[in-house]
Amino acid sequence: ADAAEWAASAAPTSAVGSPATHRTTGTPATSRTPGETRSLSRESLAAADSRDEEQFSRHEDGRAGVEVIDAGGRAMIPGFVDSHTHIVFGGDRADEFEARMSGTPYAAGGIRRTVAATRAATDDDLRTRVGRFVRELHAQGTTTFEIKTGYGLSVHDEARMARIAAEVTDEVTFLGAHVVPAEYADDRDAYVDLVCGEMLDACAPSSRWIDVFCENGAFTADESRRILAAGAARGLRPRVHGNQLGHGDGVAIAVAADAASVDHCTYLSDADVDALAGSDTVATLLPGVEFSTRQPYPDARRLIDAGVTVALASDCNPGSCFTSSVPFMIALAVREMGMTPSEAVWSATAGGARALRRNDVGVIAPGARADLVLLDAPTRVHLAYRPGVPLIDAVWKDGCRL
Ligand code: NIG
Ligand code: FE
Repeated sequence: ADAAEWAASAAPTSAVGSPATHRTTGTPATSRTPGETRSLSRESLAAADSRDEEQFSRHEDGRAGVEVIDAGGRAMIPGFVDSHTHIVFGGDRADEFEARMSGTPYAAGGIRRTVAATRAATDDDLRTRVGRFVRELHAQGTTTFEIKTGYGLSVHDEARMARIAAEVTDEVTFLGAHVVPAEYADDRDAYVDLVCGEMLDACAPSSRWIDVFCENGAFTADESRRILAAGAARGLRPRVHGNQLGHGDGVAIAVAADAASVDHCTYLSDADVDALAGSDTVATLLPGVEFSTRQPYPDARRLIDAGVTVALASDCNPGSCFTSSVPFMIALAVREMGMTPSEAVWSATAGGARALRRNDVGVIAPGARADLVLLDAPTRVHLAYRPGVPLIDAVWKDGCRL
């Protein structure tokens, strides 16, 4: 992973096209007088707020359609690429989280509760909720995101999840193989047949990827291989949830299938690390899960030192990790997983793009999409150095201010 690829992107001045789509209100930061907000009257706080609305100045530079933004010394980075989310679902599982914080261990069985709530939600409910998550992602600097199905687990409900996800992203993943739903508990073979047949047929038109949760308590190695092969036969590219709750075959299966990514990678043997290092499969680490389940963090340092490409993603879902904050993942990766700040930011941008086999996002480069995040900080290091602080000052997607 080459953090230098976009290091030049921290330059303070950047040109962004399509000025007509940009907001033009606000006062440039240069008009501020040092010390003028010291008196904490209500009026002076309100005035300071309005000055802080726009912390950079802009002007046309004479070329048609080009606006120059003086970032005033702030760092600009590529928009985050969150290559793993589950943001179409009904209900939440705050009670489960609360019990976990009192010692009840995480078990993927809670997925069935979200399946029940998702089936009960109308399309409009799901649309409204996903719209809120999309705004949440954008506000935190994420400009490209993947969404998985996996809380429908019937032909009808998986297909509507896939359709609703496809309304907000091109990166939809069919995850009918999340767990075996309760009604198939006594006949898992019939469920795998359904996933590989009718359910896949219904979801493939809205999906780019197929995923399987290859783990004890979810799907076996043989089932996982069969499901990925069925998806590939319908033109869906493979990705895998694996090695989350214990050692297992997820990584080996992902590498053998040339999966774009194997996600979680918390429990890895030396053979798993070697296999990843010799492959084009990205190891996507999801440290919010370990934070929210009190499990051990994956060892990012071991992977990077072995030459594995590492991505960071949120895994935003109601069970194992209910946050959509990529800056939070960066802070965790640096503090808990041995990554440097530059590595962590690379993994959350270019690394995420590689996990989606994309080269048009996650970088600031000629020909790439103008997905840009201006930080309210002088360097990207501050994303880890100032955890929990809202440092996302402005976001552009495809050259348009969000
Ligand atoms: O990526 N591991 C499987 N699926 C999700 C968790 C889903 C849930 O608990 O609802 C994950 O962690
Ligand atoms: Fe997940």
